Amino acid sequence: MSSLSSHSQGSSATTQDIPSSILPTPAQPGPFGHKQRKNFFMPEGKTEFNHGSYGTFPRSVQENMMKWHNKAEENPDRWVRLDLKPALAKVRTQLAEFMNCYKDELALVQNTTVGVNTILRSIDFVPGDRILQLSTGYGAVDKTVHYICDTHKDVEIVEVPIVMPLTDHEIVFQVEKTIQDHLAKKDGSRIRLAMIDWISSVPSVLHPIKALVDMLKSYEILVFVDAAHAIGQVPIDLTFLNPDFLITNCHKWLYSVRGSAVLFVPKRFQTSIHPTAIQGDYKSGSFELEFSWNGTMDYSTILSVEGALEFRKQYGEDAIIHYCHRLAVEGGEKMAEILGTNVLTPHEQQVGNMVNVRLPIKNINHPKIETPDYLIRLLLDRYNLFAPSYKHGGYFWTRVSSQIYLELSDFVYLGRVWKEVIEELNAEKDA
Ligand SMILES: Cc1ncc(COP(=O)(O)O)c(C=O)c1O
Repeated sequence: MSSLSSHSQGSSATTQDIPSSILPTPAQPGPFGHKQRKNFFMPEGKTEFNHGSYGTFPRSVQENMMKWHNKAEENPDRWVRLDLKPALAKVRTQLAEFMNCYKDELALVQNTTVGVNTILRSIDFVPGDRILQLSTGYGAVDKTVHYICDTHKDVEIVEVPIVMPLTDHEIVFQVEKTIQDHLAKKDGSRIRLAMIDWISSVPSVLHPIKALVDMLKSYEILVFVDAAHAIGQVPIDLTFLNPDFLITNCHKWLYSVRGSAVLFVPKRFQTSIHPTAIQGDYKSGSFELEFSWNGTMDYSTILSVEGALEFRKQYGEDAIIHYCHRLAVEGGEKMAEILGTNVLTPHEQQVGNMVNVRLPIKNINHPKIETPDYLIRLLLDRYNLFAPSYKHGGYFWTRVSSQIYLELSDFVYLGRVWKEVIEELNAEKDA
């Protein structure tokens, strides 16, 4: 058993309260850091380093979700027939205010996967259409794009190769070059739509989204932003960004309960966009009605967005976003120092709340890292923690998520855990 395997959280942060005009830092966390642990569900001895995958929500948000859940249970007919739609509309109003758009441009859906399917399966792709995507796009999104190609004649993918590190300027250049190379072929096909991550998953890169949207639109390409990680991690102004479609998960960084996401569809496209599961309001002429009922199910997770926004309001958006970002930057540097490596994105503006740190494995094709679940089990069983790892650009990386319940000392601990794991693998004779 490793000496690191019984990590306890230590005591709460001792930092005194700071004036509200000063944004918190990892050194002066104000209301953030370990003192936040009591507001979440992590048991003693468990530290969450992978908020980015599935999110986790505060206790008060679960209470808010239960309020909706119980309301439905106490009087199902009143709930479904009278109260549900106004409750959903209120959450859309709150989210519209939060993202600077109109309430009627938003539909609440279960998750990004559903949102991506909703849009891609509604568009009337025709022969010759091409869908542009980044090579670092998310697996399920890439598979959905493949499905569209498989089910439509002569619809194909145009992939932009992205190998980090690249500057923001180089990323935009790379995408534009791919478009120009495609145009130069003059084969009669056209790039109809681009799927672009605002913040990619692995490696995690905060993209120059406004520059990308503007450039793609200048080529008359529809832009669908996969903003799965955006809401709660970066400020969103949809009027300014002006994408054609955007989907963002509230259950990741906004702190609502899993199964809550919001899809942005401007009025000009609404008559052609339908939910993945068609229901009785099809052809009602109302986008709002079509997306306010997905058949009988529990809507309390989606409605818990209300509780998430309430939780955030007590600290302020700037304070939460700034703390998580600084902690990701400084925590990543600390881990890289412990491991004797580097972070993938030295340009700070490419880091949101997730940082990619290189793991010093000697053999990138080590049989154990090729074994499905080996590292997952090792990290969870031996250390009771998890951070995803992956290959990119010929190196092996881990992605670490910062959060308001973490402190720099947690990153130090995780750095030591990874050091121990990698040293063990490097010491093996088939390493
Ligand atoms: C970039 C990106 N897109 C889409 C998804 C899918 O999100 P969900 O599983 O909530 O549908 C994820 C999930 O992590 C993601 O990182």
